[in-house]
Amino acid sequence: MCAEFTITKDHKLPEEQFSLNLCRELGITDPNRQTTAFKIFLSSVIDAAKREGFVQPKNEHELYALRLGAGEIFVPDFKLEKALWQTFVNGYCFAKKALDPGICQALIDEVDGLILEEGDHITHPINAGSSLEVKQLHERYYCPVWEDGVTVARAVANSAAGAISQLTQIDTNLSFWWPNEVGYQRYRNYHDRISPHRDRRTDQILAFTLTIAGSAKVKIYEPYADPDDYTKLHLVDEVMTESRSVMFLRAPGFGNGQQVIHEVCPPEEDSRLILNLRMRPDILPKPSETIQS
Ligand SMILES: [Fe+2]
Repeated sequence: MCAEFTITKDHKLPEEQFSLNLCRELGITDPNRQTTAFKIFLSSVIDAAKREGFVQPKNEHELYALRLGAGEIFVPDFKLEKALWQTFVNGYCFAKKALDPGICQALIDEVDGLILEEGDHITHPINAGSSLEVKQLHERYYCPVWEDGVTVARAVANSAAGAISQLTQIDTNLSFWWPNEVGYQRYRNYHDRISPHRDRRTDQILAFTLTIAGSAKVKIYEPYADPDDYTKLHLVDEVMTESRSVMFLRAPGFGNGQQVIHEVCPPEEDSRLILNLRMRPDILPKPSETIQS
């Protein structure tokens, strides 16, 4: 091991330097051109080094998130198994005051360091002109869970997956659930919303949404007749989400795999910030790269 890579807890290395040194030790010149498996490995090692005090965390909130164990993002009296059973049977579950309050603050801090982009599907609706047309407007930041800059979201994903993947008495496929996509969304004002829609058919097992700040109604619908007609729906449930609320949505691979139709209404006042954690093979590109959702 070279002298540069000798680290101690008394002299914490900056994250970038630790990453460079580690890659050099492994003979890797460009980590961005490595396989997904390597990127997951690298992010895991950096997270562990921060957790154990060898690398400087961004702030105390990041360190707090990294030290959370399986299921510790939830308050102790949150009934995770019951929520997942409801999702298995009904296709969705809402719960208020489910998240540990420190999680929301850590996520707010993380988003402050990211540049969100506007995704405008009001001007360019998804499936425009069809019965499955979806209008959507908000700011967003989507990336793989192992990317730099989303350490807190990754820690939240790992904590959730650590607990949920144990609940195989509900469905054995839960053991495979590990979200690979981080999706921050900010609904800025009363113009921002998503009309009734199902999430992507390629999503796998479970979608997990955390409301970080702000409040808005989320509505659940069923089709009157044609399952592929979002213009003829009846309301079956609605919940006012707020900071510390969570929502689970069933996806293919869990229960009967059917996805429920849901609508995200504009924020009640000011803005609303959420985090979507999903397991999907086709991680969403940034709006600046394409207008496709
Ligand atoms: Fe959705």
